[in-house]
Amino acid sequence: MRRAWWWMVAVLLLALLLVPAGCQKAVPQQEESDQPPPTPAAVQVFAANCAGCHGDQGQGGRGPAIKPSQLSEQELFTVIADGRGDMPAFRGRLAESEVQALISFLRGE
Ligand code: HEC
Repeated sequence: MRRAWWWMVAVLLLALLLVPAGCQKAVPQQEESDQPPPTPAAVQVFAANCAGCHGDQGQGGRGPAIKPSQLSEQELFTVIADGRGDMPAFRGRLAESEVQALISFLRGE
């Protein structure tokens, strides 16, 4: 009987030790998200969807140089979402949050 009691205490202590360990894991990730853009997500979206025409640094290629862009956020959104000339429309192909990330990336924010 006495042994069973000690087991319960041991399990409880173990649980108490594990819970804060799980929380601590989340803290460094939050600090990383404070890093200044370009966020890795925007870089990846750009590399996968835009670099083929605009160059891997946005320096231009088949499409014009677009980084850093002089266009306003609204103009960038319209061109990316709806396309223009040979520029394909990305509405429906990219999430709005991805387009927003790209806009910040192109504006060098
Ligand atoms: C198939 C090639 C192609 C792809 C892929 C492409 N673009 Fe373009 N883009 C163009 C061309 C060509 C233009 C010039 C359009 C025009 O005005 O005739 C252009 C224009 C633009 C402009 C306007 C530039 C300015 O100064 O007026 C922006 C911004 C832009 N693209 C962003 C993007 C982004 C962001 C992506 C990826 C989501 C992308 N493009 C993917 C070909 C492409």
